[in-house]
Amino acid sequence: MTLVILDIFYYMFIHKSADLLHIELQKQRSQGNKIGFVPTMGALHAGHRSLLERARAENDTVVCSIFVNPTQFDDKADLDKYPSTIDSDMEMLRSVNVDYLYYPEVEDVYPNGEASDDIDLAGLDLIHEGALRSGHFQGVAQVVKRFFEIVQPTSAYFGQKDFQQTAVIGQLIKLCEFDTKMVVCPIVREPHGLAMSSRNERLSPVERDKASFIYKSLLKLKERCFFKPLSEALTTTIKYLKSIEDASLEYLICVDGDTLQEVNDLYDSDYVVALTVVKYGGVRLLDNIILKKPKV
Ligand code: PAF
Repeated sequence: MTLVILDIFYYMFIHKSADLLHIELQKQRSQGNKIGFVPTMGALHAGHRSLLERARAENDTVVCSIFVNPTQFDDKADLDKYPSTIDSDMEMLRSVNVDYLYYPEVEDVYPNGEASDDIDLAGLDLIHEGALRSGHFQGVAQVVKRFFEIVQPTSAYFGQKDFQQTAVIGQLIKLCEFDTKMVVCPIVREPHGLAMSSRNERLSPVERDKASFIYKSLLKLKERCFFKPLSEALTTTIKYLKSIEDASLEYLICVDGDTLQEVNDLYDSDYVVALTVVKYGGVRLLDNIILKKPKV
């Protein structure tokens, strides 16, 4: 197998080997270059583009990974149907001038097998999404830890859409004392408001438009909670979401943005985020909105 390919027209190196990529990036670091890293599972969309562009703007060297990580799927059927669009993904990477693509096989990421000891994620992996998708965040932390060891990025870029994932990675960075700054980028939305996600491909164009009710209801919640108690505003929004035909609300909760513990009142925390998952058109759609931001 060829381990490194140079895409000569665009000067992007495609690495299949963690060891070779690690050596190459060590050279970059020794020259004082800042390394920006965007981990992905491919099927890239405008949300990923925003991460890549931010990484490009803030760093000397940009690394992207495309790897569908088996250890974060609790449902094998979900893993099997995960979309692969490598040709259009590469087009996007070239258009943003990414320097290195890490595009490994499973054996390169997990040379000693996929099993691993639990990572202490301070319980952030066990609640909300974690309670519904057993082992999911352990798998995410396992692969991000491995990537950070290989790439040793100055900054790593993640989307706010997967809010709980960003809290988990924040804890991983603390636990492992990685010298990496996590940059959380705002949610990018489709024209009608649906948060960008690779899963949106499974919806028809009409469903994609109609699914804007999720974002609209979050905006309404934000508006309501500034003139009504949070619990009341939340109850009204839950009632509305439950009334939508063909949709099934999995949860809508307000949490502290750092601890992810539920809050019942806006005064309970400086940082309040509403997290929701709605199943619509057979697809679990995640979204969130920041209701109150910590003052910097
Ligand atoms: O957000 C994702 O696409 C994945 O969870 C990540 C961070 C690339 C790890 O596989």
